[in-house]
Amino acid sequence: MQTVLRILAFIGTLCLTMSYKIEPLPDSYAGLGEGPHWDAARQSLYFVDIEAPALLRYDYKQNKTYRAQIEGEQLAGFVLPIEGKPQEFAVGCGRRVVIVNWDGVAPVAKVERTLFEVQAAFEANRFNDAKTDPRGRLFAGTMRYIGDEFEHRHGELYRWEQGKQLAVVKTDVGISNGLAWDEKNKKFYYIDTTDYEVKSYDYDIETGVASNPKVIYDLRKTSPKDHLLPDGMTIDTDGNIYVATFNGHTIYKLDPRTGKVLLEIKFPTKQITSATFGGPDLDILYVTTAAKFDQPAPAGTTYKVTGLNAKGYPGVNLKI
Ligand SMILES: *[C@@H]1O[C@H](CO)[C@@H](O)[C@H](O)[C@H]1NC(C)=O
Repeated sequence: MQTVLRILAFIGTLCLTMSYKIEPLPDSYAGLGEGPHWDAARQSLYFVDIEAPALLRYDYKQNKTYRAQIEGEQLAGFVLPIEGKPQEFAVGCGRRVVIVNWDGVAPVAKVERTLFEVQAAFEANRFNDAKTDPRGRLFAGTMRYIGDEFEHRHGELYRWEQGKQLAVVKTDVGISNGLAWDEKNKKFYYIDTTDYEVKSYDYDIETGVASNPKVIYDLRKTSPKDHLLPDGMTIDTDGNIYVATFNGHTIYKLDPRTGKVLLEIKFPTKQITSATFGGPDLDILYVTTAAKFDQPAPAGTTYKVTGLNAKGYPGVNLKI
């Protein structure tokens, strides 16, 4: 009897882990891919290649990726479409959030103007991951990119809304990374990579204020050199979160209410940077990766994961 149960449990695990399928997106290479954002109106996945710096757009219907160099810039941490302005995007260039004009096809994108700038005294800092909350407010965080960001926690997380003063959501940040909101359960989830943790906050959707941080998942291992580095994150409509690990080959699907791992999605490369749901039914998980520190191919490939039996939310345009 026990053997039968064990075999059944094994088959169960096998079914769970084998239900999904991972495929590369064509021409999707990014040396440091990040910030995937699903644009439902255009049925396109936007993401950045941070150090190129370039904007990329995978067109679902055409099954084709377009790439544009951002003229005159050194870094691009994120890309977010602007509400009502189809050719305008908010992009984190260094310590500035700028408005970039791109038609989604041309090989070059141009900076139009600066929306705002932060941390003038911290020249070694840059914007990293950013997202809009369900109401279209911008949440963007910084990190130190020259020197040791684990030791010198000079990063901050900001909230920006048109017509309001820039708000500091959190100071003492090493590498500001994954962001996700669960409007139904009034939660905001946040990752500072250098904390090796995922935190949950209570979230007031009317004010955009996050409070009462709690650690919901800890990625530390027995030996510090084995600690997993949590990176980008997304959420599904069941309220489960998907945490990319920069050195772990894996996206962890977690139930943030219990801290339980529900699924480990494994990739043929190590530096998994972020993920977001997209596609016509919002049931495809798009995943960015990196090829930092001489990682061999297929590092830097952007993937789609199907068969997860979960759906996400489309990206929200930034209101300016
Ligand atoms: C997209 O294009 C790639 C590369 O040509 C191909 O391997 C893949 O099957 C295509 N996917 C779809 C959904 O057409």
